[in-house]
Formats: sequence, C-alpha cells, structure tokens
Amino acid sequence: MKIIERYEELHPASKRLHQRALSVFPDGITHDIRYFTPFPLYVERAEGAYKWDADGNKIIDFINAHGALLLGHNYPAVKEAIVRQIERGTHYGASHELEIQWAERVEALIPSAESVRFTSSGTEATMMALRLARAYTGRRTLLRFRQHFHGWNDNMVGTPGREGVHPHALGVPDETLSSVVVIPQNDPDALRQTLSEEDVAAVILEPTGAHWGTVPLDEAILPVLREETAKAGAVLIFDEVVTGFRASPGGVQAASGVVPDLTTLAKILAGGLPGGAVAGKQEMLALIESGDGRRDFQDRVPHPGTYNANPLSAAAGNAALEVVATGDPHRHAEKLCRDLVGRLNVVLSGQGVAGCAYGLASMFHMIIGAECPPPIGGFGWDWQGKPGDRIPSNSGDIFWALRRGMLNEGVDLMGPGGMVSYAHSEADIEHTAGAFERTIAAMKEEGLL
Ligand SMILES: Cc1ncc(COP(=O)(O)O)c(C=O)c1O
Repeated sequence: MKIIERYEELHPASKRLHQRALSVFPDGITHDIRYFTPFPLYVERAEGAYKWDADGNKIIDFINAHGALLLGHNYPAVKEAIVRQIERGTHYGASHELEIQWAERVEALIPSAESVRFTSSGTEATMMALRLARAYTGRRTLLRFRQHFHGWNDNMVGTPGREGVHPHALGVPDETLSSVVVIPQNDPDALRQTLSEEDVAAVILEPTGAHWGTVPLDEAILPVLREETAKAGAVLIFDEVVTGFRASPGGVQAASGVVPDLTTLAKILAGGLPGGAVAGKQEMLALIESGDGRRDFQDRVPHPGTYNANPLSAAAGNAALEVVATGDPHRHAEKLCRDLVGRLNVVLSGQGVAGCAYGLASMFHMIIGAECPPPIGGFGWDWQGKPGDRIPSNSGDIFWALRRGMLNEGVDLMGPGGMVSYAHSEADIEHTAGAFERTIAAMKEEGLL
C-alpha cells in the first residue's frame, strides 16, 4: 500500500473534520504551517510527549505547540498553576503580582533583559522591538537576513529568497519594505557594507540561523554582529522567540556570551499559553513610558494590548520558567536530540540515501535525497569558510511523503525536523528512529529515493 493510501486509511475522522473545516477557514486551517495534504490530522488531546488524533492514534509529538512546549504537554506544575489561576479569575484588566514575578524570571535568565514588556505573541514582540529601534535611533532602515522568520508584521513579510526588489505579501505597500534590506547570513562583508551605506536602525536575526537553524548560522558571526552594530549605532535585536529558553535556559545570548540590545521572546516564555515579550536595554524600553500618564500616541512608543501579561499566561509562564531555570529540561532534551540526530544519520547511511540530520540544542533538521556537508560529530554543521547561506532543500514530494509516512508510524515532525521536549523518553527516540527507518524504506519502494 502506498504511503498516502495508508494515511487516508488510518485517519478517516480527520478527513471528515477537514471537509467541515474547508467550509469555514481559508485552506481549512488556522495557521499557515498547519497546511497538510491530503488533509491535516485533528488532535483531540495531548499529554507529555504525545497527542491523540480524532481516530484515536497515539502520536509522538515533535511539534510541541510550534516549539512552545519545552516541558511537553500538560506539564504538571504548569497545569496546576493554570488551574489555580482560573479559580482566581482569568483576566483582571489590571496590574497583578504574577506579571512582576514573570518579568523577574525573564531578567534572571536572559542576559540582555534590563527591562521587559509583555505582548500577546512573537509577531507583536518583533513589531515592538523594530519600532523601539527606529524610535531610539531616529533612523528608518531595518536590516534582516535572508530566510529568517520574524512573524507576520508588515515590515517582515518580504518573500524569502526573492528579496532585493521588494516582492512581498499581498496587502503590504511597496513603501513599507522599501526601508528593509535583506542580506545573506554568514556574510560579514555584506553586513559591513550595508551598515556603512545605509542608515540602519536595527539588525534583526534568528541567532541560530534561518528557520530555527534549518540554515545554520556560523556562530563566529555573532561577535562580529555585536561589534559592527555598536560601531554603526544600530540596535542589535536577537529574535529568540524559538531559541529563548531552548538554545540554553538563557537563549543563544547566554550560550554564546553575545548580548544584543533587544531580545524578542514568546513560545516557551508563556508555558504554552499565548504570550510574548520584548526584553532589553532599559533606555530603549523607556521610550514606551509616558511619565505623566499621557495615553496619547505622540512622542513615545505607545503600547496597549488587551491580553498583555494576562494572569493565565503569567501563571503558566512563571511555572514553566521556574523549571527551565534548573537547566534540567534543556539538558534532557538536548541529550535525546543528539541521540536522535545520530540515529537518523545511521538510518540514512544504512539505507544508502543521500542526506543528513543535524541540529542544535533540542532542535533537529533533516535534508533527504540531496547531498549535504557532513555534520560535525553528527550534530552540528560545518560552515567554516562557507559564507553562502544556501543549503539543499527537500523536494516537495519527499517532504510530503516523509511527513505522511512518519504520521502513519505515529510520529509528528515539524517540517523535516522537530523539537525534542523534557517529556520525551529514550523509548520515544527509539520508536522515532524505527519509524524513520520504515518510512525511508517505504519511500524507496515508491521510487522517491
Ligand atoms: C523566530 C520567530 N520569530 C517570530 C515568530 C512569531 O511568533 P508568533 O507565532 O507567536 O507570532 C516566530 C513564530 O514561529 C518565530 O519562529
């Protein structure tokens, strides 16, 4: 039986639900990345490392709420904190102590965090950070790196891979992106040139590389970025929406020792509930202050937001960050991720299939069906002397067959890779490696590899 036929056979209830969804949502989905053919799975419940779909299939989850659940689903302390808070009210529309504790935890973990402002999402956090940078410098130009993702705010939705002439999402005026410059990552010369030629307000990046490290950033460029932005008077923004609390308990900045001016956070920050934050230099966040209680939108960076630091997210975030701070989730997930990457590479070489698995901390990626440089020790990626930022990509056919095949085997990947959590066990890694072996064999049988 073909992979797609087995997928249809295993998931009839999801198929029915998707028929309904198509009549109420564009594409039948509620987040671009949940697009799936012939239909996505509909999940009914989740616990620990697993979720169960509408057909009762148990699935090892490597999506973990788009990376928000470093601790896994329903981590007891987080769940208890949420339930406790529900008993006390879900939203006060007022200041409360939990938001202070939450910010104190952020400041204790994230080196750049002298001051914090909570938002409701990562997109809002990057929007705020970019605006603060423009306000602080009085400059217009934003510099970002090709394929780096910063959410869907107007300034950041240029089409990856086709930048230069400002092609962009529908609904964004040309003028908006005319002040955004996109350069390749890992290219110090392009960086220096742009900083010297343009009046750059901010440089923003995903500090492990494009798409949560799918295209790995050469770590050696981080100190160069720090030095060059300081020299040019531009604000350095690390978008740690994914890597914050995951690359290390203090994000990439704690691991690398390179401290940006502003940091954007979300996902793990709020323990699986909605929430984001901008954390950084006090003098920059002070631009939000009104001082005299003015609520007008002039001469300051205004920041309302109904759900900013809402008590439920603050309760979940506090509980999650308390556990994150021990370093145990990070150590556990990284160790399992390393094992998994090693095992995925053994499967590929054992089956004589071109490609590789690689990763960082608890994030892993795969390229299948195309040659890629040998990973360092089965985990990193050797970018020495290679300033270009192109890597071979998975063909569409291979991508879809891999995702469907792994779901048939009870494993949900996040693209061609995933996020390992504190809840995963060695048995889950063992199962995943076996699932990958069988999926690759099925793909070969279908002539895809
Ligand atoms: C690096 C990065 N920045 C920003 C965002 C946007 O965050 P949100 O989805 O919470 O708006 C994401 C989302 O995946 C992200 O990966």
